[in-house]
Amino acid sequence: MSTTMEPGSPDLRPRAILDAIPDAIVILTPEGNIQGLNRAAESFFGHPIEELAGQEISRLLVSPADGRPWSLPADLPAPGECLGVELEGLHGDGSRFPVELRLKRLEVAGQTLVIAVLRDLTERRQLETQLQQAQKLEAIGQLAAGIAHEINTPIQYVGDNLRALKEYFDDLKRLTEELQACLEAPAEEVGPRREAIRELAAELDLDFVMEDIPAAIEQGLEGIGRVAEIVRAMKDFSHMDSARISTIDLNRALENTLLVARNEYKYVADVETDFAELPAVECHASELNQVFLNLLVNAAHAIADKGPERGRITLRTRPVADGVEIRISDTGTGIPASILDRIFDPFFTTKEVGRGTGQGLAIAYQVIRKHGGRIEVETEEGKGTTFVIRLPLKLPQPENGDG
Ligand SMILES: Nc1ncnc2c1ncn2[C@@H]1O[C@H](COP(=O)(O)OP(=O)(O)OP(=O)(O)O)[C@@H](O)[C@H]1O
Ligand SMILES: [Mg+2]
Repeated sequence: MSTTMEPGSPDLRPRAILDAIPDAIVILTPEGNIQGLNRAAESFFGHPIEELAGQEISRLLVSPADGRPWSLPADLPAPGECLGVELEGLHGDGSRFPVELRLKRLEVAGQTLVIAVLRDLTERRQLETQLQQAQKLEAIGQLAAGIAHEINTPIQYVGDNLRALKEYFDDLKRLTEELQACLEAPAEEVGPRREAIRELAAELDLDFVMEDIPAAIEQGLEGIGRVAEIVRAMKDFSHMDSARISTIDLNRALENTLLVARNEYKYVADVETDFAELPAVECHASELNQVFLNLLVNAAHAIADKGPERGRITLRTRPVADGVEIRISDTGTGIPASILDRIFDPFFTTKEVGRGTGQGLAIAYQVIRKHGGRIEVETEEGKGTTFVIRLPLKLPQPENGDG
């Protein structure tokens, strides 16, 4: 029986196989010294193999959280176990790239070694970003109808008030003309004209008109203010340039999201906010807004799914050590334990087609991770769910740094 694995077949020597593998493979001592590596590692790090051999792995990898050199954990994975971490690789040209690193302990001839398999995540991250952008557009599309409705109500009463003001103006014009004529009339005609003016004032219900005009103006201005506020929130919310870093008040970002998403929850829930004064947070604001929106829509869905009774969504913010904490709670269905470990998976959904595609929490997870934060869930079936987000005050790798 002839097989392609026949020993001696020149292209299938272990070295050739190792070099054909697209992932970078690095053999390390337990202290992190590079003992051997394959060709892929060469292009991966942008240094020739000869230069890399004997180096410390900590010179090639950094932790994305703080940009510090990464070293092998003192506790190596147990034999047979695999340890995975996401790090950043340092390329010879000075660039950084996201890496998934998997470690396995290797016992060879009584010696302990570590085998590290590194995969470049650049492409995966790009896809994640595209997906996120697509979901944002979808969310904005979904919000558009609700926002049109939110704007329509004040626009309608601004219109009603303007029409009333137009009528009042016509009345006042008639009255003013009478007064003018009275002023210009010879003295003996003033008496009868005064009587006519008094009758006109009664006919026009002048007392009411004079009372209603300031109210109509006030309401009109209030309506215009509301429209302007919604438009501003919408603009803030949907700022397309998600690469932009800003330092913002997260309470205000949450208020904005509540405003643009009002139509998504107002029929099923009352919203309570419990905001503490927060330090400004450096972030990609439009991405965090998208996270808040996703959580808010999920909360509204969970409340609607529970039954016809009106529920409550609570937004709570607190400063915590080195950062801020945001809790978004609902009194909805809760999440069954059987699916709890899958809710952050891309495309995991329990919703019917058209209502959910399972991207909301996957994107929330990505965005919060990118911000160096954490997102966790506390839930009780039949009682409700709380999503807890913790964010540091500064972004992990300041892209606006040394340059
Ligand atoms: N607040 C919540 N209460 C109860 N279940 C929830 C809550 N949030 C999420 N879930 C569950 O987690 C699943 C995944 O949520 P996710 O937001 O990722 O997707 P989706 O809401 O189904 O769809 P999409 O967000 O893409 O419209 C939901 O289908 C739902 O089963
Ligand atoms: Mg969702």
